[in-house]
Amino acid sequence: MPYRSEIRFLLNDREVSTSKVGSDDTLLDFLRIDRRLTGTKEGCAEGDCGACTVLVGRLADGAVRYQAVNACIRFLASLDGCHVVTVEHLSGPDGLMHPVQRAMIEHHGSQCGFCTPGFVMSLYALWMENPDPSETEIESALQGNLCRCTGYEPIIRAAKAISGYGHPAQDVLNTERDRIVARLAELMDGGRVEVTNGESHAILPADVDDLAAILNENPDATMVAGATDVGLWVTKFLRSISPAVFIGHLDEMNRIETGDDAILVGAGASYSAAEDALCDEYPHLREYWDRIAGWQIRNMGTIGGNIANGSPIGDCPPVLIALDATVTLRRGEERRVMALEKFFIAYGKQDLRPGEFVERITVPRAGEGQIHAAYKISKRRDEDISSVAAGLRLTVMDGVITDARIAFGGMAATPKRAAAAEAALVGAAWSEAAMLAAADALDADFSPLSDWRASAEYRMRVAKNLFRRFWMERSGADAPARLSA
Ligand SMILES: Cc1cc2nc3c(=O)[nH]c(=O)nc-3n(C[C@H](O)[C@H](O)[C@H](O)COP(=O)(O)OP(=O)(O)OC[C@H]3O[C@@H](n4cnc5c(N)ncnc54)[C@H](O)[C@@H]3O)c2cc1C
Ligand code: FES
Ligand code: FES
Repeated sequence: MPYRSEIRFLLNDREVSTSKVGSDDTLLDFLRIDRRLTGTKEGCAEGDCGACTVLVGRLADGAVRYQAVNACIRFLASLDGCHVVTVEHLSGPDGLMHPVQRAMIEHHGSQCGFCTPGFVMSLYALWMENPDPSETEIESALQGNLCRCTGYEPIIRAAKAISGYGHPAQDVLNTERDRIVARLAELMDGGRVEVTNGESHAILPADVDDLAAILNENPDATMVAGATDVGLWVTKFLRSISPAVFIGHLDEMNRIETGDDAILVGAGASYSAAEDALCDEYPHLREYWDRIAGWQIRNMGTIGGNIANGSPIGDCPPVLIALDATVTLRRGEERRVMALEKFFIAYGKQDLRPGEFVERITVPRAGEGQIHAAYKISKRRDEDISSVAAGLRLTVMDGVITDARIAFGGMAATPKRAAAAEAALVGAAWSEAAMLAAADALDADFSPLSDWRASAEYRMRVAKNLFRRFWMERSGADAPARLSA
């Protein structure tokens, strides 16, 4: 197949076109070392601190939407056809400060200043989407930004004040939007892209059929979706991921459709992209979703990646298993569909053949009589990995539990259903006694491990307590105040 051998994207107001790009080259290194755009900082190099936050916009259905992402784990090759906006782009041609910068200065949102460009970029993304955010929305947008000096109060005050200094309609990304859309459209030719830097090779398939063919021919290639896991293999473990196949630009893999019976989520859809479709149907997921990573990682990380990585503590598998989700796996032209819970075979072992990939996740629509919950237990509320995660779906008809699907993460080597707890519930009256019996049955379902995140005893106790919490929240029983916080 003919292919283009250069990556093309917009960086602030300039077009970048470069053929010397390897699979492992990060956007942050490119900005700081190659382009000397040192406003974007490197703190943790693992997506945790937000010092490297930039905006990335991609053309989809004729429009560009900008999202805050972490440049430290964003691979350069994945930016083909995108508009990358760094903090340097904020000052206008007249050199005046941007409303976000003015708000941060006048509300004392910065001390040493190292984190400040990252905060400014997250707040910039928020202000463009929502010029009048609530405190909760501001906190959510800043989950992925860490400041060790100032404390968050002045930054939140600044965030609330930005619109007093200017309106997004006057921002250059909006006044220039038509021109940007036209420039991005010119960059895209819809074909395959292959680039190399030394020994390191990156491939961007033309479409999902091309992806299937490439993986079939190169089963050892590294598939890269949001790079929120793979990025760390490079920045923390110094591993080469070459040859790497990037999928973030593939519309078919990002598509989300709500049908009569099910929500179809392309495996390349990010947490942010899938949020509304899943949480509108299942409102119990809204708070849980906000607890997955921070904003930048939710804009990058994909549902497919969270499943395919096989982690026993990934947040999507337990709640999706409880909702009876299936995965569509594809190798070449061959597809198979399996229940998500069957995909996880053992620790680090998934039912994924060489050259096969997760194409889609299918989540059934909510059914009559169902009661749902999703819980994440972690040391911090925001930006933390689960010690235990749980998804629960009970069907209650005429006061009797007719079906139960309960899945846990963090309790075994894989995300796993609690078969004994489910058996204790089915046929029982919807009652506190039934929930406590199910909690007792967990001893037969799991022998959790101790690690630095949580001890085995803690995991078991907290998992059992979630049944009590579920009953209190869903039955209308008097719950301690903290349960509804
Ligand atoms: C700061 C930070 C915070 C995080 N917080 C959380 C959290 O709170 N909860 C949580 O669950 N996770 C968390 N993660 C982990 C990570 O965000 C998720 O696991 C994410 O969903 C992975 O998706 P990705 O698209 O980034 O995968 P990638 O990094 O691109 O890929 C991960 C693995 O999956 C494979 N892969 C990706 N897509 C497919 C596919 N469609 N088919 C087959 N294989 C595929 C890749 O080859 C690779 O082996 C966090 C990560 C970071 C860096
Ligand atoms: S440097 Fe910390 S998130 Fe990128
Ligand atoms: S101002 Fe110093 S880390 Fe935030």
